[in-house]
Amino acid sequence: MINLHDIRYVRVGTPDLDSAIRFTTDIIGLQLVAREGKAAYFRSDQVAVRGDTRDHTLVYFQGDPADQAIGFDLHNPDDLDAVGAELERTGHPVHFGTRAECEQRRVKAFIASHDPSGNCIEFVIKPYHSGTRFFPGRDAGVTHFSHIGLNTTDAPRDEKFWTRLCNARVSDWIGDAALLRIATAHHSLALFPASRPGIQHINHQVEDIDDVMKSWYFLKEKGVKILLGPGRHPLSTAVMLYFRGPDGMTYEYSCGVKHIMPEEEATYRPRQFPFERYAVCMWGSTPDPDVSAFPQTEATTITPLRAVIY
Ligand SMILES: [Fe+2]
Repeated sequence: MINLHDIRYVRVGTPDLDSAIRFTTDIIGLQLVAREGKAAYFRSDQVAVRGDTRDHTLVYFQGDPADQAIGFDLHNPDDLDAVGAELERTGHPVHFGTRAECEQRRVKAFIASHDPSGNCIEFVIKPYHSGTRFFPGRDAGVTHFSHIGLNTTDAPRDEKFWTRLCNARVSDWIGDAALLRIATAHHSLALFPASRPGIQHINHQVEDIDDVMKSWYFLKEKGVKILLGPGRHPLSTAVMLYFRGPDGMTYEYSCGVKHIMPEEEATYRPRQFPFERYAVCMWGSTPDPDVSAFPQTEATTITPLRAVIY
């Protein structure tokens, strides 16, 4: 069993780094903490919310938008070699990060591998924290990077990868999509059926519903495409807003996500929801019909709802 502590970062390529930096700071409201060579590092965590501050949670680097990686930190740093052996044993070749690659990620060590769909997953130990305070690029109310949606080309198979090989637990299903928790948040990872791998969306939590609604007006005023919301997910109880970011990436703000505490683990039962409108949004918001411009999930091959939610 690969014992993950939580999701740590995402790394995403972009052909236009300057534009991605502007959008991430001026629109999403993260903090640019470093620009080194062809990579930009962003912070999102308020100390008061998480009790710590991750050095960074998002990296944009000059490159192909399809070149993506998701970092998870291991619960026990001593596990790294065993995790590498377990991945290899189960048919997932690994690459141990070089010193330069570790420095790029601000971690002591990591292993890169792939989930069965081909998403690049990085298992890191001793990721760096920062002693300085989060200073947002705009007052969007962002409190921390919380979860991603991840494409799966075979949902049951990938669910096993995360829940049997790793320690993720199913919190709920909507259609074939499993929403998986790693720490206490309802989901750190949501697996969405698609025809190819990729990050389906990137979520940042904001402080409260006022931030969601203020951003809704702000984003519309700035001409940012709203993809879903404002609304509320009945599964996680989070109030949410989805919008389009650089290179077609979907971003989400949400607040009020349900937590499943350790003392509830033994008795918690995941629920199955149908893939229908009011399971996606109990307020009845519907996705923007222009989901064909959303490349990560090849929305034309799947239902519009699947392209943007959770
Ligand atoms: Fe989400």
